[in-house]
Amino acid sequence: MGEVYDGPILEIDGLSISFFTRLREIPAVMDFSVSVKPGEAVGLVGESGCGKSTVALGVMQDLGVNGRVVGGSIKFKGRDLSQMSSAELRQIRGSEIAMIYQEPMASLNPAMRIGQQLMEVPMIHGGMSKREAHARALQLVTDVKLPDPERILKAYPHQLSGGQQQRIVIAMALMSEPSLLILDEPTTALDVTVEAAIIDLVKDLGRKYGTSMLFISHNLGLVLDTCDRICVMYSGEAVERGSIADVFDGMRHPYTQALFRSIPLPGADKTARPLVAIPGNFPLPHERPEGCNFGPRCDYFVAGRCDQGAIPMLDVPENTRHATRCIRHD
Ligand SMILES: Nc1ncnc2c1ncn2[C@@H]1O[C@H](COP(=O)(O)OP(=O)(O)OP(=O)(O)O)[C@@H](O)[C@H]1O
Ligand SMILES: [Mg+2]
Repeated sequence: MGEVYDGPILEIDGLSISFFTRLREIPAVMDFSVSVKPGEAVGLVGESGCGKSTVALGVMQDLGVNGRVVGGSIKFKGRDLSQMSSAELRQIRGSEIAMIYQEPMASLNPAMRIGQQLMEVPMIHGGMSKREAHARALQLVTDVKLPDPERILKAYPHQLSGGQQQRIVIAMALMSEPSLLILDEPTTALDVTVEAAIIDLVKDLGRKYGTSMLFISHNLGLVLDTCDRICVMYSGEAVERGSIADVFDGMRHPYTQALFRSIPLPGADKTARPLVAIPGNFPLPHERPEGCNFGPRCDYFVAGRCDQGAIPMLDVPENTRHATRCIRHD
């Protein structure tokens, strides 16, 4: 088996990703770093268009015809994904890294019974026998708390509700016991009560199987509730990174503060804590300002300081695991 690897499962360092169109280069992600340790759940939050899905697709090495990593590196269990052969990548994507998308039907084959779809994963990638694969499929359908698992295995996807389909997608993602599960807005298409149940489920399964998770959501409340650490993105960049406690109790970036004020927190009384929308507009990738991207919308903006040059990620004093991209964080 070789040496036991005990470093981070995922290590993204200074990652920059651009999309190339006929007119211009669109820098969708810039100088982005985050790491996910074994068993850890890291949340990635930020407004629509800030680059969350691009990071996820970068990890999957699936940026389409016009997307490209233009800087930095993505390491999975210490190995740079860009150095791997396409055969190796296919193997990793099929068994070691699994991704769950917003829309469950995008991951299900409408013409194939649920059982067959679930069993295919470990039979193709893990060389599991049909009997073992069936036993595992049955176990996972039970784990994701679907009623009458035997009947579900015989059903076609359209015979299930949206919430049930998403549970099947989660079961499918866990069939090969991946070390990393990427969830890209997995509950956006579901209603709120179903969403809460799915999130609880993901939390429990993460614990049961020791799976590391990168959880993408624009819902800060969900991330606070599910993750160990959080990374806040704004306009292609990470602006704050730390443990949930560090960031929640001592947020250092004005955008994180504004984001917290603009979202409902779990169990919060709406009258006691009115929601405040963030004034101004999110800059498009080719219209970013000089200096801090959040500068034009920031209450603490100082001309001559915040609008000069690139702003690096800075460690918050006395806490090397808490960092912020604000030169006036103190
Ligand atoms: N294939 C593409 N070609 C050109 N631009 C793209 C492409 N995919 C994404 N982009 C651009 O990259 C930026 C980041 O997009 P991304 O989908 O990563 O955002 P997101 O944070 O996932 O947003 P959402 O919350 O809406 O899912 C956006 O400006 C988007 O328009
Ligand atoms: Mg997205």
